[in-house]
Amino acid sequence: MSKPFDGAITQFYREAAPEAVRLAIDAAHKDEILDPTYPYRTRMDRDDYETQLKALQIELVKCHAWIRDTGRRVAVVFEGRDAAGKGGSIKRVRENLNPRVASVVALSKPTDREASQWYFQRYIHHLPAAGEIRLFDRSWYNRGVVEHVFGFCTPDQRDAFFHQLPDFEQMLVADGIHLVKIWLNVGRAEQLRRFLDREKDPLKQWKLSWIDVEGLRKWDDYSDAIGQTLSLGHTADAPWTVVRSDDKRRARLAVIRRVLIDLPYDGRKDKVVDRPDPAICGGPEMWAD
Ligand code: ADP
Ligand code: AMP
Ligand code: MLT
Repeated sequence: MSKPFDGAITQFYREAAPEAVRLAIDAAHKDEILDPTYPYRTRMDRDDYETQLKALQIELVKCHAWIRDTGRRVAVVFEGRDAAGKGGSIKRVRENLNPRVASVVALSKPTDREASQWYFQRYIHHLPAAGEIRLFDRSWYNRGVVEHVFGFCTPDQRDAFFHQLPDFEQMLVADGIHLVKIWLNVGRAEQLRRFLDREKDPLKQWKLSWIDVEGLRKWDDYSDAIGQTLSLGHTADAPWTVVRSDDKRRARLAVIRRVLIDLPYDGRKDKVVDRPDPAICGGPEMWAD
């Protein structure tokens, strides 16, 4: 059965991609970073990446034992545009962890019943219990961005969401949940390159949806919605961390460091964990469309 997006990404690239985006992709080698404002010109060296990743994953294993033994509750929210690298980062975080302890929450669109409930309700069931890490691949922040851009919620519903959001997150934190919110920020050319790649690769096609295709023309609407969401959702209790993810390797290392940095688990090697690379990782001020 042919899918509605068959060839649609390539067609967009040929016909409608902004000239600068097309030129960037055409001129680039595989290791080259497309976004001229990204602080590095090429992807991180693979050997260096793999060495650091392995060392960080060993830290994650120690941290996960500590979470299990001490009964801590950890929730990590991964957000970002389509193809920003949420799935890939989550995969690297949980690779060596017990799936019962570290599990992924990736909810599909709300059912009619869920849509009639309090907006946050369906997410509450997936918050961590003692000894668990929950990795949210998208989250309640859908209402801030994709639901708004595609008209899946009304402006009043979105206003109510932003109104309730700080109290909602504050309650989770006050109850003892360790909440980390990571916004992966990908540039326009890199996003399109990843979509083209997914369209070609039978192992990646499942990641494409009509939202991705329709979303190609909505870059600026997304940018507006993301800017609002990062500023309205950034609080002292539950701050945003923005990671520029044009280089997946650097982004994944920064994500793991960000997850580990505030968790005082036994035997932490501070030299390995260190602070995430400040050139690509910071607060909402790091975000630029
Ligand atoms: P993903 O990027 O998670 O693979 P999509 O890009 O297709 O998936 O969709 C983005 C998000 O929008 C998903 O979280 C999906 O559940 C949500 N979504 C899709 N359709 C609707 C809808 N009608 N109402 C609310 N949310 C929706
Ligand atoms: P702004 O960046 O605030 O100028 O807004 C960018 C776009 O988002 C505009 O089209 C606004 O109408 C829309 N917008 C801003 N706030 C909201 C909101 N709370 N709910 C729905 N749409 C909004
Ligand atoms: C990813 O690259 O894993 C994405 O952020 C998920 C998606 O396709 O939307």
